Amino acid sequence: MTDWHKRWENNKIGWHAEQINSQLIEYFSKLNLVTGDKIFVPLCGKSLDMLYLLQKGLKVVGVEMSEIAAEQFFSENKLEYSVSKIDGLKLYEGKGIQIFCGDFFTLNPRHLVNVKAVYDRASLIALDKALRPKYVNHLNDIISKDVRILLLTLNYPQHQRVGPPFAVSKSEVDSLYGGSFQCQEFEYINDIENEPMFLLEGVDFVEKAVYCLQKVRM
Ligand SMILES: C[S@@+](CC[C@H](N)C(=O)[O-])C[C@H]1O[C@@H](n2cnc3c(N)ncnc32)[C@H](O)[C@@H]1O
Repeated sequence: MTDWHKRWENNKIGWHAEQINSQLIEYFSKLNLVTGDKIFVPLCGKSLDMLYLLQKGLKVVGVEMSEIAAEQFFSENKLEYSVSKIDGLKLYEGKGIQIFCGDFFTLNPRHLVNVKAVYDRASLIALDKALRPKYVNHLNDIISKDVRILLLTLNYPQHQRVGPPFAVSKSEVDSLYGGSFQCQEFEYINDIENEPMFLLEGVDFVEKAVYCLQKVRM
C-alpha cells in the first residue's frame, strides 16, 4: 500500500480544501475554454475544484489512485455515478465527469481524447523531486499540442520542512516544462501569513505561484 493510500484510509488528507481554490477562480479565464470543452485534472483527489469546473459547463476527466477519494467525491457531493473497467483501470462516471481510478502513469492519450486544458493544483508539488520530471514527461506524452495547463505551485526553503507538498521554484518549472511549453507567470507572492502550518514549522517564506503553460511542440 502506498503512502497516499494510507493517507486516504486514515483520513489524513490535509491538502483537501473545503472551498473552491481562489487562484482557479481568478485565472480560470486564461484557459480560454468554452462550454462543453474537456479539462483534465491529474491526481485529482476529491477536489471541489472539479465541481467548479463542471459548473463552468466543462467536461471533467480526473485520475486518482485512491478509490476512497473517487467514491467520496461522488457521494459527498450527492452525484450519481456508475463504475466500469477500462484498460485495467476502474472508471467512475457521473454527469459530465469521469474519474479514472489508478496510476496516472498508466494513462494514455486515448483516455484524454479532446482534452483542451489541464488543471494542476497540489499535483506536481505532491511529487518528490525525482518523480517530477517523469510526471511532466508523461503529461506531455498524453496531451495534445495547444493544450494549456493552469499550474499552481508552492515554493519555500525545502530544508526547513519535509514534503509533501514539495517546494517547486520558478526555475524548476522553467526547466521541467521549458522544452515543449510556452510559460506565462500570472502570480508569484509570498503568502506565509496564510500558511499557519508552515509558520509553526519555522518556515521563512511560502511563495505561491500561478502559471499557464501551453504545449507548443509535439
Ligand atoms: C496532494 S493530493 C492533491 C489532490 C487534489 N489535486 C487536490 O487539490 O485536492 C495528491 C493526490 O494524488 C494522488 N496520487 C498520488 N500519486 C498518484 C498517481 N501516481 N496516480 C494517481 N493518483 C496519485 C493521491 O492519492 C492524492 O489524492
